[in-house]
Amino acid sequence: KTLRSVAWKQDHRFVGVAVADDKLSDETYARTVAREFSSVTPENVMKWETIEPAPGEFNFEPGDRLIDFARKNHQLVYGHVLVWHSQLPAWVNEGEFTAEELSEVTENHITEVVSHYKGKVQRWDVVNEVFNEDGTFRETKFYQTLGEDYIADAFRAAHAADPRAKLFINDYNTDGIGPKSDAMYELVKDLLADGVPIHGVGIQSHMILDLYDAESYEANIQRFADLGLEVVITELDIRMDMPATEEKLAAQAEQFRAVTQACVNVDGCTGITVWGLRDSDSWVPGWFEGQGAPLLFNEDYSKKPAYYAMYDVFKTK
Ligand code: G3I
Repeated sequence: KTLRSVAWKQDHRFVGVAVADDKLSDETYARTVAREFSSVTPENVMKWETIEPAPGEFNFEPGDRLIDFARKNHQLVYGHVLVWHSQLPAWVNEGEFTAEELSEVTENHITEVVSHYKGKVQRWDVVNEVFNEDGTFRETKFYQTLGEDYIADAFRAAHAADPRAKLFINDYNTDGIGPKSDAMYELVKDLLADGVPIHGVGIQSHMILDLYDAESYEANIQRFADLGLEVVITELDIRMDMPATEEKLAAQAEQFRAVTQACVNVDGCTGITVWGLRDSDSWVPGWFEGQGAPLLFNEDYSKKPAYYAMYDVFKTK
C-alpha cells in the first residue's frame, strides 16, 4: 500500500507533492512521486516569471511536462499560482502601469494560463499571500495599483476561463486562528456574499517543529469548511534546527500526524500537499540558515517517521 491509496480510502482525500521540474527526469524521483502521491503541484514552473516571461509570450512547456506526467500516473494537478507578488517577471514587477493597464495585463495572464490548462488543472491558487501578518492587505504592486478589487477580478477571470476549475485563495501563517487567518476569513466571507466564484482556501502550513496548536489548527480549517468552502493544506512542511536527531524526527512525525488528523476530522478538508519530496529537495535550507529536514523522505528516498505517521492516520478510518 502507498500513501495515495490509503488517503483515497479516507473519503477520497488526495495527498500531493510539490514537484521540481528539473528533478522529474530522475527516475527514482519520478517513480516515488508517481507511486506515493495522487496530486502534484508545480513548485515553480507555473509562476508568472516562468510562464509569461515577456508580455504575451507564454512558456507552457515545463508546465505541460508535469500535466503529461500527472495524466500518465492518474494524478490530479493543483495549479500554482496565478497572481502573486513574488517571482514576477521584471516587465510586470518594474513596469509602470495605470490601473487600467495592469488590470488588463493581469486578466490576460489569467485567461491565457487557465485556458491553456482548461480541464487539466482541477484546482488553482488564484491569489496568493495577499495579507500581512497583522491581517492588513500586503502592499503589492497589484494592491497599490488596483486596490482590493484585484482579488475578486482575478477569481472572475479564472472562472470565465475554466468554469469547472476549483479556485482557491492561499496563504502562509494562517495555520491557526489569529489576525491573519481572521482577515482571510472575513475576506472570503465577503467574496462569497458578493457572488465571487471562490471555492476553496489553501492553508500553506509551512511549520516549525513544536510550534503547533492542534486545536486552533482544526478550528480554523473547520470555520472555512463551514462556509461551504473546500480546504486544502497546500504546502505542508515542518522544519527543525539541524542536525536532525532521532528525537526531533519522532516529534516531527507526531506533528505530521496531528496535522493529518485535523484534516481528516473536517469533512471539507479534501487533501494535503507536502512542499517537496525529500528533505534535500526542500526550499527550507536555502531560506532559513541552520534549519531543514522538513519533509517525508530522506535524500536516498527512504521513508522518514513522518511518512509513516501520515500513512497511519489515513489508514485508520
Ligand atoms: O531557476 C533558477 C536557476 O536558473 C538558478 O541557477 C538558481 C540559483 O539560485 O535559482 C533558480 O531559481 C530559484 C527557483 O526557486 C527555482 O529553483 C530561485 O533562486 C529560488 O528563489 C526559487 O525559490 C522558490 C521560492 O518559492 C521563491 O519564492 C522555491 O523553490 C519554492 O519552493 C518556493 O515556494 C513558495 C510558494 O511558491 C509560495 N509559498 C511559499 C513557498 C516557499 O517559499
